[in-house]
Amino acid sequence: MRIFLDTANVEEIREASELGVISGVTTNPSLIAKEGRNFQQLVKEITGLVDGPISVEAVAQEAGQIIAEARILAAMGDNVVVKIPVTSQGLKAVKVLARENIKTNVTLIFSANQALLAALAGATYVSPFVGRLDDAGHNGMEVVADIVTIYAQYGMETEVIAASIRHPLHLLEAARIGADIATVPYGVLQQCLRHPLTDVGIERFLADWEKVKDR
Ligand code: G3P
Repeated sequence: MRIFLDTANVEEIREASELGVISGVTTNPSLIAKEGRNFQQLVKEITGLVDGPISVEAVAQEAGQIIAEARILAAMGDNVVVKIPVTSQGLKAVKVLARENIKTNVTLIFSANQALLAALAGATYVSPFVGRLDDAGHNGMEVVADIVTIYAQYGMETEVIAASIRHPLHLLEAARIGADIATVPYGVLQQCLRHPLTDVGIERFLADWEKVKDR
């Protein structure tokens, strides 16, 4: 089980990276837009902060244009993975890019069938959006579980990134189910780290130590 950070914020990436718990970063156009920075400079900086895969999304809609954009994005860093929405044009592009050894993360996955098709087309990763499925009244984690089962059954190498993670239980469930990766927002990572009993425990230990340290 690996954890990626779902953000384009360099401070968050730096901080989480120092914790030693993240091995990649995922971004999307909304996360990039939130930073209000020059896109190329931002991606360059992020690729330098983390050794692992950095997903950057292509915004072109037609296969030939997606391929052209993906080549440009991939040239921005050895660790860049091109995020491509699961459309027919997107899958055509994934097939070509796989042959060029350009890594892809097929995104906006909302069903196990979409994930199956993405794997067959040659996706390196798929990103089922758990939180958005939950928002729509479905069980997002069931979709992740189905994908994990199907890929294992047929020995498919595409890795499953549980995405659109909204709270610590999502991470726990993704780990239980056997998702290869969960990509989590910085806030959720912090929530997963903290526990009130840890804080109380530290306070008590320090208070007791104060009583005896000078004896
Ligand atoms: O990894 C995908 C993620 O960025 C989408 O999350 O919370 O916008 O559904 P959210």
